[in-house]
Order: sequence, then C-alpha cells, then structure tokens
Amino acid sequence: MSALPWGRRFLMCPPEHFGVLYEINPWMNREVAVDLDLARAQWGDLVATLTEAGAGVELLEPQPDLPDLVFTANAGTVNRGRYVPSRFRHPQRQPEVDHDVAWFETNGYDVSWLPEGVRHEGAGDALPFRGVFLAGYRSRSDAAAHGPLSTLLGVPVRPIELVDPRLYHLDLTFCPLDERRAMVAPHAWDSYGRKVVEALVPEPLYLEVEEMLGFCANSVVVGSTVVMAQCPRRVGRLLEGWGFDVAVVDVSEFLKAGGGCRCLTLALDVAVGQGPSGPLSGESAIGAPDGPPPSTGTPAAR
Ligand code: ARG
Repeated sequence: MSALPWGRRFLMCPPEHFGVLYEINPWMNREVAVDLDLARAQWGDLVATLTEAGAGVELLEPQPDLPDLVFTANAGTVNRGRYVPSRFRHPQRQPEVDHDVAWFETNGYDVSWLPEGVRHEGAGDALPFRGVFLAGYRSRSDAAAHGPLSTLLGVPVRPIELVDPRLYHLDLTFCPLDERRAMVAPHAWDSYGRKVVEALVPEPLYLEVEEMLGFCANSVVVGSTVVMAQCPRRVGRLLEGWGFDVAVVDVSEFLKAGGGCRCLTLALDVAVGQGPSGPLSGESAIGAPDGPPPSTGTPAAR
C-alpha cells in the first residue's frame, strides 16, 4: 500500500451548537431530536480515534445559530496552503463562511475566492486523487465552479454529476484510500462520472447501495487506518485484505443531519498538482478522463 500523501491534519469544530434546526437534505428532519451530550461524546471519540491513528486536529470555534458548522468538510477547498472558501447553496449555511475565512486568515492561509454567483461546497464536493480533484456537482455545487476552482488550486478538476439526492455531496460517494485505491459508489453518478472514476481509480472498492447509504464512503483515512461510521462485514474484509485497519466510530447524532465522519473533518495538508499560481486569469483544466495520465502529487508541502 502506498499511503495517501494527505490526511494527517484536520480542521474540526466541536458540536456545542449542533442540531437539526432546518432541512436542507433528505436526511434532515426537524422533528427528530439530537442528543447533544451524545453528539459531544461521539465527536470526542472521533477526535480520539483520528489522533490515535496519527492525525493532528485543529479546532474551529463553534458559533451559536450555525448548527452545521461542525461539518468542516464544507468550509472550503484547500491545496498547498491556499484556501478557497465555499459558496453555499442554502442561505442557512452561508453565514458560516465569515467564521471559516477568519480561521484560515488567522492561520496564515492564502484566501482566494470563487467568483460570485457560482456555488461550491468545499471538500464535501472536491476530493484529491492521483494528482487531480474529483469534483461533485448538481445538488449543492455547480459545474461552473470547476474552472475557477482548478485555476485557483492549480490542479485539474474532473467533474462528477451526483444523481441521487440522498447522496448530495461527493464525499458520500467517493473515498480515496491510498494512491491506487478508493471506495466508489457508481450508483450515485451519471454515466460520464462513472467513466471518469473508472479511468482514474486503478483499484476500486465498489460499494453496494446499502453500504453507501450507511455512509461507508464518508470515511476518514489516516495512513492505513479507515475511520468509518459503520463497517459492513463485506467492506471490512476487503479493506483488511488490502492491509487497512478499520476503526468504527458511532456518529449517529450527526447522521441525523446527513453527515458522517468525513463531513466532520477538513484535511488541511492536501498538496496536489502544481499548486496555486496567480489570480483567476490562469489556465484551468477540466474533464477529459482520457487525457494525459495524471501525475501523482509531490508530497513536498506536507
Ligand atoms: N446538514 C449538512 C448539510 O446538509 C450536512 C453536511 C454534510 N457534509 C458533507 N461534507 N457531506 O449541508
């Protein structure tokens, strides 16, 4: 196994103000109460598990009235010290951005904005793999964001259309495991997206619909440890056969808001492609699954 060159430093936000206060995805139901003490304990277990696996965790301060701020995967997209803030589709999450940006500014990141009017929900819809970003669109993010995102991050972007409203972010359907392997959920993509992934992933672990609805793809990978909300026996066997250790962390309270382990984290140590260059006028590279073979990112900026 050649471990992923990223996934050792994460941004997370304690669930002090977490809850299901509105409904912006099919999992959310305001009538279902969240047990906040349990949520705190589960979030603490996730931090402990990630730390034990060798990751560092940085904290974003929780804010009243922003229950989904815990899902830091949606804070934005990061590559080589540049941070591109999200542009949320739903007004309920838009006020999160000021808090996210303040954290990244304070911590010395170069903050670069997508043009106004395009939607993009950060690492929830953009995951690095073999030198490119796979980028989901339709439910939350717009395909129109991919050109600017590619330019700002200095990385080719491969678009994937998400066709199942229950799997509204890419990170519910795709999980990089190492440099060659990923958990993939083709049921959630259109036929072009399936081809993109087929061309990009040498050794896919295909998830069944039930496995994907159990948030298997929404796992956090730290070296050889896969941190999952639950692990069906079939998936566990395959992962262990490849040399991974599975750590299950119950995140039931967060699933009520439609988010699992991965959604609660944002990788800060992503370093793929050539990296950020100048402002938005530069070249972007989108699509073309059968273009030149993607280069694997150099781990220099880790
Ligand atoms: N309630 C949140 C929302 O609908 C959940 C976000 C899940 N995040 C993710 N990266 N999939 O926006």
